[in-house]
Amino acid sequence: MQDVTTTGFMRVIGRRGAPDWFVTEYFRVHETSTLEKHIVDSIVNHGTGRPVFAQIIGEDTPHIIRTIHLLKALPVAGIDLNMGCPAPKVYRKNVGGGLLRDPAKIDEILHAMRQEIDGLFTVKMRIGFDGMENFDRILELIAKHKVDLLTVHGRTVKGLYWSEVDYTAIAHAVKSVPCPVIANGDVVSATKASDLITKTGALGMMMGRHAIRNPWIFRQWREAQQNLPRFQPTLNDVRIYIQELADECCDAAKATEKQAGRLKKFLNFIGLAIDADGKFLHDMRRTETLADLLKCCDAHLVGTRAAEAYPEEPYRGLIARPTRETQQTCEL
Ligand SMILES: Cc1cc2nc3c(=O)[nH]c(=O)nc-3n(C[C@H](O)[C@H](O)[C@H](O)COP(=O)(O)O)c2cc1C
Repeated sequence: MQDVTTTGFMRVIGRRGAPDWFVTEYFRVHETSTLEKHIVDSIVNHGTGRPVFAQIIGEDTPHIIRTIHLLKALPVAGIDLNMGCPAPKVYRKNVGGGLLRDPAKIDEILHAMRQEIDGLFTVKMRIGFDGMENFDRILELIAKHKVDLLTVHGRTVKGLYWSEVDYTAIAHAVKSVPCPVIANGDVVSATKASDLITKTGALGMMMGRHAIRNPWIFRQWREAQQNLPRFQPTLNDVRIYIQELADECCDAAKATEKQAGRLKKFLNFIGLAIDADGKFLHDMRRTETLADLLKCCDAHLVGTRAAEAYPEEPYRGLIARPTRETQQTCEL
């Protein structure tokens, strides 16, 4: 995830039970693009021991090929094409989710990528742009070009991050392509992940925002699959997680207000499960410096509440990003 899956975040997640693999923030591909250094760093220095897929976003075939050559020099498990980003400034360039309007272009890109990638070639897509009229055609192209693994976010581009997820469409993709399919979209908990395996027939689940809120989600799902007792984090565990985010994801060289702003972006998601009334979210948004923000976290999470269980699912009715929910962006 843009602005989220940094080296520091991967390390913090890795300590709590990493996913089976990570996918990087996307590398932008265009005429003058080079590999963004911080994304390269996340591939080389995450230290979790898990495989990492490098994601690219673009539509210029010669430059996609050039980028693949650069990526081949890095320790990546495979290369993933983004066909889902819903930000207008992205899709207007006919990249990300914008590609879903143009199956002929997808045909050309998948062909070129498959020729160039000897190892694993994966695709992440939504079910359509503003409808599903191209879905079957695109699934045929996924099969035609022997994509190794497909992740389907069960929303259209116009559905952004909040429309209802169409798990039936994901189940349809599972039946339509020969490669394994990973289901994505509102996989809020290990319990829901288990249900969705049955409902969709997918090989696995991709967790995005819910891994920010609950970094133990991958461990909990692994435990659920093995019929082991599920790890139950406390609010004190959440406070420790927040401290690690502050230490590893907020640039200490920046002004304390900027560091607080960065941490708040993670807290917007974490706060969805701290109290049903949204009091934590309310209070933390009103702090200015990092020190005050961490004091606010102490007040809500430790002391008398330290041993309280952190719920598996978010409380209903709370909003993670009040100013962003209407802004169409792909960044934290
Ligand atoms: C802040 C943010 C950044 C994202 N960046 C990317 C990205 O770079 N590449 C990508 O394929 N999806 C990206 N996504 C989409 C997520 O991977 C995921 O498909 C979407 O959030 C739905 O899953 P969720 O309900 O588990 O969050 C991003 C989502 C968010 C909230």
